[in-house]
Amino acid sequence: MSPERLGCGWLWRLIMAVLLRVSLGHAAPPSPTDGTDCSARGPASYILVFTGLWSPQTFPKQYPMFRPPAQWSKLIAVTHNSRFQLWREGAAAGGGVQSFAELGLTVEVVKEAKEARKRRAVGAMYRTAGIPNGISHSSTELLMQPRTPLLSLMVKVIPSPDWFVGVDSFSLCEGGQWKQEVTLDLQPFDAGTDSGFTFSSPNYPTVPVENVTRITSQMPHHPANSFFYPRLKELPPIATVKAIRQDRSSARQVPMSNHILPNSISPQRFSETPLDCEVALWSSWGLCLGSCSRGGVRHRSRYILLRPANAGTPCPELEEQAECTHHNCLRRQ
Ligand SMILES: *[C@@H]1O[C@H](CO)[C@@H](O)[C@H](O)[C@H]1NC(C)=O
Repeated sequence: MSPERLGCGWLWRLIMAVLLRVSLGHAAPPSPTDGTDCSARGPASYILVFTGLWSPQTFPKQYPMFRPPAQWSKLIAVTHNSRFQLWREGAAAGGGVQSFAELGLTVEVVKEAKEARKRRAVGAMYRTAGIPNGISHSSTELLMQPRTPLLSLMVKVIPSPDWFVGVDSFSLCEGGQWKQEVTLDLQPFDAGTDSGFTFSSPNYPTVPVENVTRITSQMPHHPANSFFYPRLKELPPIATVKAIRQDRSSARQVPMSNHILPNSISPQRFSETPLDCEVALWSSWGLCLGSCSRGGVRHRSRYILLRPANAGTPCPELEEQAECTHHNCLRRQ
């Protein structure tokens, strides 16, 4: 039965609105829903697996091969509530985030998290070893407490000026239940403290410091940027994290070998990103070869700035010749 058909839809809606407000008023939790309240009855144990997807197929532009090759720093994870923030898009990076994003140092971050633990804003901290290439795993166990159900983490992109991937305040608790399994795709962020443009840019502090921003295929909008892929609407994920809940009470549980999940790198994740050839501007025309008045030619050339990859547009001609024109022929004295 549609209340509209009764011709008093407005009255019906008013009644429903009042009823809804009344029932919500009674059902709402006593404290604000800031993502901090988790009514799960006990802690939950998780395996956290970080997987790098930074391959030369997916990110062909300036892929770091040597000195240093592409790799990931150690992962730092913090469990906390809404009174702590490890990093946030659009906010200024703190000292800890800066030294981690620029240098991969965890000392400051750990110090800040320890301070926050005294205020009961942080539950625990976890670290994994670094990964010596772009496409492997690292993992750690997490113990989540209902008081601190949020997870934040960071991994530095190496080499890079101040780029990292991470998770900001993701709640593993939902509706009074711990989530069973979560997979999050990660994108690169710029900590805003170093102005380098490419993976191997030298250290060049940004003054004044900018806030943390997401790096996309279009931003920063400059052809020299390592992640600038004008053909892509979005960058493919450069890494993922997966949190899998462990049933601690079960004795039958099969221990995961080294926490590595057999299916966490599926081949289709390595999409091939086409990279178009880029060439420099033409040089100026050379001198005329041959007779200036008849049949003489002159040349100009250009060079490759970026080699194409994965079926990107091939490079155009690198050399061009044209007939000499009279007015730019050298006059015989
Ligand atoms: C940068 O972050 C700070 C807080 O950390 C904020 O007050 C400020 O408005 C932000 N600036 C911009 C341009 O977003």
